[in-house]
Amino acid sequence: MTNTTELHPPAPIRHHPMEIARDTWVIQATHGEGVAPQAVHMNSMVIRGAEPVVVDTGAPIHRDQYLEDLFSIVEPEDVRWVFISHDDVDHYGNAAEVMAACPNATLVATWFLCERLATEGFPVPPWRWRWIGDGESFEAGDRTLHAVRPPLYDSPTTRGLYDDRTGVYWASDCYATPVERGTAFVADLDPAAWAGGFVTFQGWNSPWVSMLEPDAFAVQCRRIEALRPTAIATAHGPTIEASHVQQAFELLRSVPTAVIPPQPGQPVLDEIVAAIRAAGAPA
Ligand SMILES: [Fe+2]
Ligand SMILES: [Fe+2]
Repeated sequence: MTNTTELHPPAPIRHHPMEIARDTWVIQATHGEGVAPQAVHMNSMVIRGAEPVVVDTGAPIHRDQYLEDLFSIVEPEDVRWVFISHDDVDHYGNAAEVMAACPNATLVATWFLCERLATEGFPVPPWRWRWIGDGESFEAGDRTLHAVRPPLYDSPTTRGLYDDRTGVYWASDCYATPVERGTAFVADLDPAAWAGGFVTFQGWNSPWVSMLEPDAFAVQCRRIEALRPTAIATAHGPTIEASHVQQAFELLRSVPTAVIPPQPGQPVLDEIVAAIRAAGAPA
């Protein structure tokens, strides 16, 4: 008889929201932690200002804990804005549920983002959308939020979000790094591991970066550097606090010429399948 508890990954390790700036929390989750050598954060963010803003909505695999964490910080009826950075399921994966729970919320997207979600029958009607593209901004009560595309991304709809009240920049997929275990701030990582993981993540998530001329890429990087962010929060890594922002800028500028290690190939998959079968799965 198969022992099914050995065939399925254990439940995600629980991480709690981290306040990274005044009224600004990163809602933390990880994928792969405890079952793989490296884990990847699946974070989102919430700003509890005069008009609370949900910034990305996490992945469906974390839905229960995500909604629990979000609504421990804001009441559903108080949420006014739900900003989706791009149309990857780890960013919009609970957006429909949040919009259903938050009757006063407007979904901040773009024309292209809504077009790409329409093929999935995304159940939010147009009168609840607002389209904010790269370089545009919107007022959220006590702050202005600026949509600014990060230098690297994996969807053409991507915009980050800069909060002019706190100086926090939400970088979506950019400025990320894998971790051995869930980690709130990059200061708690080994510096070499951060640097290596950082360039690897950017190279794997945006492989076209190797086609870029470094000086031209640096121009794009300066768009974010000019914001002088007090912290950079990212979906897929620990938050980069003020003490590490300059180093993050330098690491990102190095990516076009960095040597990016290869991704795991078929031999690794063979090992995974062998381990699963050894645990009792059917041949
Ligand atoms: Fe993405
Ligand atoms: Fe992502």
